[in-house]
Amino acid sequence: MGLEFGRMFCNSVNVIDEYMSSIPEHWAMAEAVTVLSTYSTVHYGLIKRAHLRKGENVLIHSGAGGVGQAAINVCKHYECDIYATVETDRKKQFLINKHNIPENRIFISTDVHFNDEIMDATDGQGVDVVFNSLMGEKLSTGLMNCLRLEAGGENLRYIFHMDTNTGTNFDFNTKPYSDILVNDLVANVIKGGKVGTYRHLKLPNGYDKCLSNDYYLNLESNRDLVGLQWFDSQCHIPMGPEKIYPDCLLGFEYVGRRADTGERVMGLEFGRMFCNSVNVIDEYMSSIPEHWSMAEAVTVLSTYSTVHYGLIKRANLRKGESVLIHSGAGGVGQAAINVCKHYECDIYATVETERKKQFLINTHNIPENRIFISTDVHFNDEIMDATDGQGVDVVFNSLMGEKLSTSFECLAISGRFVQIGRYDTIDEKQLPINDSIRDIQFTTIFMDFVIMNDSHYLDEFYDWMHKNSTNNCIKPLNYTVFEAKDADKAFRYMTSGEHIGKIVVKMRDEESERTAITFIRPVPELLVSVKTYFNPNKVYIITGGLGGFGLELISWMQSLGARKFVITSRSGLKTDYQKFIVNRFMKKYKKYFMSNLIVSTANGLTIEGTKQLLNEAKELAPIGGVFHLALELNDSLFKNITFEKFCSTVDTKHKIFANLDQMSRLLDYKLDYFVVFSSISCGKGNAGQSNYGFGNSLCERICEERRRDGLHGLAVQYGPVGDVGVFESSSNETPFASTLGKQRILLCCDVLDKLLAIKQPIVTSYITQDNSNETKQTDGKQKRIIVELWRTLGIDPNSTPNDTTLGDIGIDSMFATELRHELNRDYHVQLTLTQL
Ligand SMILES: NC(=O)c1ccc[n+]([C@@H]2O[C@H](COP(=O)([O-])OP(=O)(O)OC[C@H]3O[C@@H](n4cnc5c(N)ncnc54)[C@H](OP(=O)(O)O)[C@@H]3O)[C@@H](O)[C@H]2O)c1
Repeated sequence: MGLEFGRMFCNSVNVIDEYMSSIPEHWAMAEAVTVLSTYSTVHYGLIKRAHLRKGENVLIHSGAGGVGQAAINVCKHYECDIYATVETDRKKQFLINKHNIPENRIFISTDVHFNDEIMDATDGQGVDVVFNSLMGEKLSTGLMNCLRLEAGGENLRYIFHMDTNTGTNFDFNTKPYSDILVNDLVANVIKGGKVGTYRHLKLPNGYDKCLSNDYYLNLESNRDLVGLQWFDSQCHIPMGPEKIYPDCLLGFEYVGRRADTGERVMGLEFGRMFCNSVNVIDEYMSSIPEHWSMAEAVTVLSTYSTVHYGLIKRANLRKGESVLIHSGAGGVGQAAINVCKHYECDIYATVETERKKQFLINTHNIPENRIFISTDVHFNDEIMDATDGQGVDVVFNSLMGEKLSTSFECLAISGRFVQIGRYDTIDEKQLPINDSIRDIQFTTIFMDFVIMNDSHYLDEFYDWMHKNSTNNCIKPLNYTVFEAKDADKAFRYMTSGEHIGKIVVKMRDEESERTAITFIRPVPELLVSVKTYFNPNKVYIITGGLGGFGLELISWMQSLGARKFVITSRSGLKTDYQKFIVNRFMKKYKKYFMSNLIVSTANGLTIEGTKQLLNEAKELAPIGGVFHLALELNDSLFKNITFEKFCSTVDTKHKIFANLDQMSRLLDYKLDYFVVFSSISCGKGNAGQSNYGFGNSLCERICEERRRDGLHGLAVQYGPVGDVGVFESSSNETPFASTLGKQRILLCCDVLDKLLAIKQPIVTSYITQDNSNETKQTDGKQKRIIVELWRTLGIDPNSTPNDTTLGDIGIDSMFATELRHELNRDYHVQLTLTQL
């Protein structure tokens, strides 16, 4: 008799001598062959590796199977107390009759609560050895990862059998299964007939990128130019009040072709306009005059609308008046020069450099003695000289600080001062805005407010634009073009202050036809970042949504388009913060955004409750996704935990998720998202959280299964979160405190944004605690910077609470800008104004 590696169903074979033995004389050959793989597995597993001792308690799974019966015989020989599981009542009867196992020691393994019965039968002691062959849901990687970190856990090994279409009777004497025993492998996964394991692998570079020809430009979360990226915009937020893109404020002007008529159009919007396709509001749009190219047209929009509104509508510019135009070589400055020329005005201009001065002389024919360098703060004297001490009728200003007050002094009696944009950085006392003696009119213009508040203004502007597009009043400005792929270069060029006129980012070449055309050429494909948008017309279910993480998740999802939510909770609104968030949602968003939020107490642990939950959601809209956050923590070492507590943690995770999976599959559409918030405790293990690890792991199996079935499924194993949720108030006593840092909730959301688009069903997101010297040095440097900062502000660093922020002491944006430059220059610290 012997064991070999395959090809053994045959009538003659060459075998290796050492793998062979004679058959004991009292066994028939047929009997002998039943002994080989079964008893060798028992011998190696129970005797050689588990060191089975006489009289021990042993739980044998699949007791009626070949290996199971062999184990029973061996354990009987060792006078052990045997407990067994079987799959059916027939097999139970077989063990009673054939092996004399008492009925109350045989359990049906399909009932997942057999462990309760075993604990009862052993007077709560449990068994000494588990000889296991159960797979799938009965065995969980998270459970094992946690148990292995508890006392005695080093003895545990597991096999997770993923192949549902093959049996679980592995022959551990043949490869690849024999490798498990030979190499004493701890965590084994069988998939596609192969033995492997679970490992955490880094997501490949570019995991959050895809090739797309539908994209828009935005800043990553760091809100700095380094974060400038093209994002995939496959999912558009529709028209109407939903069309607000709070996450993207880049780009207000656009030109392109209407998808419905093919006509060339130009328009202004509120952000997200560096893109190749967009839903826009009709009233904010106009046709492009035929003699302008699209690139020319786009230079006209914000520049001439600012000039029209500021100089003509507000300052009532009159023919022949004298006007001082600051930043004359800029886009708005040049537009103002063209319009003022049309009004036959006396033009004075300032520029920042000699090069720009030369440009105004050459391109706009402004006499040299009427152009002043604005860095010299005494330009007012020169202007007063040039106007024989009268001053100018109108100042069109974009300068700040001291230069702003200097400009104010250039005004003639009854002059008008038009300020473009913010002037909050100046001390009002320095600027006699209500200068009644000189009868000065001061106007500040914010074009975005104008467009938002006066729905007819753009009609008026477009009308004026068309009328003046051929008489030299409105002339497209000079511009520099950058291809979409070089958008970052365009922005850097702009911040360098080198440019003259406008900078245009080109998405695609314009067709030679200026008439309407039906075929609109697509833009070239670009490698872009993936981006999540939630459909405002669908409803999202968040279980445990009133918890720490859930409440923040709602706001984040809202910022990405989600408008309708069903939040589950066992008992509804309790804390003031929960009430505040929900009230704010209902008061602020319900009417305007057609948003809705229901707090449901439907019991997701039952099928009936799950049906009720889905019905409540369906009444609002089709269901877009499920985010499973419900959590009941009952941390305890495995040996100390009660069965009830163990199960209620597992069930809150697994049963609710499994019920939602099962019932949502019955819908006649697929969900876009089916996500469980799992934990690093499951992925890496954490002593005292075996139940939590178990529950999470079972949810992860559901995600894998859903992916196999072509459905969405994602488990994110988060590390401990610092600012909200279960670890919020536990200073540093989180699991893995020495190795893992606490993750900020916003970071968790940013990560989710990308993870929702990936293919992998299980991912981990955590930050490590960097205990290296380098960090300590950086910490020291940071402290020194903060001390320096307080000193600069005249504040005693020793008496300043650590949590005081620059906002608390009332930092203004001018100071913030200077501070930013100083920090960069002296400490090489790159901070954005928002961060400051
Ligand atoms: N916070 C972290 O550091 C962290 C780290 C990794 C993973 N996670 C995961 O993120 C999720 C949210 O965590 P969290 O910190 O926000 O927890 P949390 O503040 O405790 O919130 C969980 C919520 O679940 C609700 N809940 C419990 N049993 C429920 C049931 N049967 N049906 C419906 N709701 C139930 C509870 O609300 P009621 O009492 O109102 O029912 C509780 O507010 C959890 O799944 C957790 O595993 C969190």
